[in-house]
Amino acid sequence: MTTASDTPALNIALLGGGTVGSQVARILTEDAASLTGRIGAELNLTGIFVRNPQATRDFQLPSEYYSDDVDEVMDGADIVVELIGGIEPARELILKAISQGANVVTGNKELLATHGNELYEAAAQAGVQLSFEASVAGAIPILRPLRDSLSGDKITRIMGIVNGTTNYILDQMDSTGASFNDALAEAQRLGYAEADPAADVEGQDAAAKVAILAHLAFHAPFTLDQVYTEGITDVSDLDHKSAAEAGYIIKLLAIAEQLEDPEGVVLRVHPTLLPREHPLASVRGAYNAVFVEAENVDELMFYGPGAGGSATASAVMGDVMSIAKRRLRGGPGRTHTARRELECLDIGESTTRYMVVVRAADASGVLAKVAGTFADHGVSIKSMNQTPDEASSDDEKTALLAFITHRAKESQLAQTLEATKGLDVVNEVLSVMRVEGK
Ligand code: NDP
Ligand code: HSE
Repeated sequence: MTTASDTPALNIALLGGGTVGSQVARILTEDAASLTGRIGAELNLTGIFVRNPQATRDFQLPSEYYSDDVDEVMDGADIVVELIGGIEPARELILKAISQGANVVTGNKELLATHGNELYEAAAQAGVQLSFEASVAGAIPILRPLRDSLSGDKITRIMGIVNGTTNYILDQMDSTGASFNDALAEAQRLGYAEADPAADVEGQDAAAKVAILAHLAFHAPFTLDQVYTEGITDVSDLDHKSAAEAGYIIKLLAIAEQLEDPEGVVLRVHPTLLPREHPLASVRGAYNAVFVEAENVDELMFYGPGAGGSATASAVMGDVMSIAKRRLRGGPGRTHTARRELECLDIGESTTRYMVVVRAADASGVLAKVAGTFADHGVSIKSMNQTPDEASSDDEKTALLAFITHRAKESQLAQTLEATKGLDVVNEVLSVMRVEGK
């Protein structure tokens, strides 16, 4: 692995040349001299595995770089960078790279949150490194701080905006009045969305990321299917209106929290109301932000671009450089095997605040009946706002009642909602949203 000039050289094989892959190719080729200066070794991009080698790319290299023959591209690679996405063939190709003794960098959260343990074990067995900083929150360095800087502290909770596409959509809807579909189309055009944007808007992408965050924070294995997940497709105009009237904004939050009694972890992704002055409320566009709470450090916030080709390529290149340095120095790769078992609890165990909007009879005693039902189930009301109901008529006078509760268990809230629906003065429960922040 030395060149004619005696500068060590490492071969990099790139799998995927799309939004992120093409930007990694750009950095590796345009910044080659500078990268060599920083690391003391040449990083040679040897080939790019794609579906269609003839396609025109965001950053175009000479045609000989592109191939649909993966064996040719991975032959002799020291580092394989997987930026194809999805489960297969990405999983099979990463295992193949590991079996060939190559180190691997990936941004593939869906794969890691589904088959992570298989891949971490394979890498540990082979003594190679598997790095994935780009898989969570795009360009933000969040996994390395969790794994290294905070490893001496006890992390108790992680809460953040970890999907750029949905944050972009909600922000556009809130600030410009754009429609959901127009905002999604723009997010796709800007390269923020997944190949299938259902993963973004239905919350699966954020769920995969929170499973990865929880794995590193709590040192236990978690998978995508353990995350309680609600996306933003069911967020209604009434939800936005009720939130705005009460001084809140809607964000898709990913939350991983450790509970003491019962002991375990709750992982959840759902639209959430935040007070407009909350730091996460000001996260705009495709930016992400993650709060980490730990026993000694109290609270940290990480903020930056959460999606997009060149921003994500920066995180990928950070992993490539780190592996290259380790490879040149020698020594074993890092491992990510979980250290303990920690139960993933049902969302019914988690505690938060809620906004509940009901359509109810506009008559005396109604408020007391609804408030009494909340109290009967141990859910305390913090505030209530009554607004006119457009559906109200002379025959049936109704009003919209928006309640904000104090903290209560999800299971208590579920029972409260059932009982509220059964009240003769309540026509309909129109909206139920969780509330975070003070
Ligand atoms: P794109 O869809 O833009 O690119 C995917 C690339 O993989 C394309 O070059 C495509 O080839 C190639 N590819 C897809 N399927 C195959 C296959 N079966 N065989 C060979 N090549 C294939 O994806 P992104 O660049 O946006 O994302 C890549 C990864 O990075 C994903 O895991 C994504 O979740 C992750 N990521 C993306 C971010 C973003 O902002 N976009 C941010 C953080 C992570 P061809 O071009 O010929 O079709
Ligand atoms: N589709 C993802 C998002 C890309 O919008 O956040 C970054 O992981």
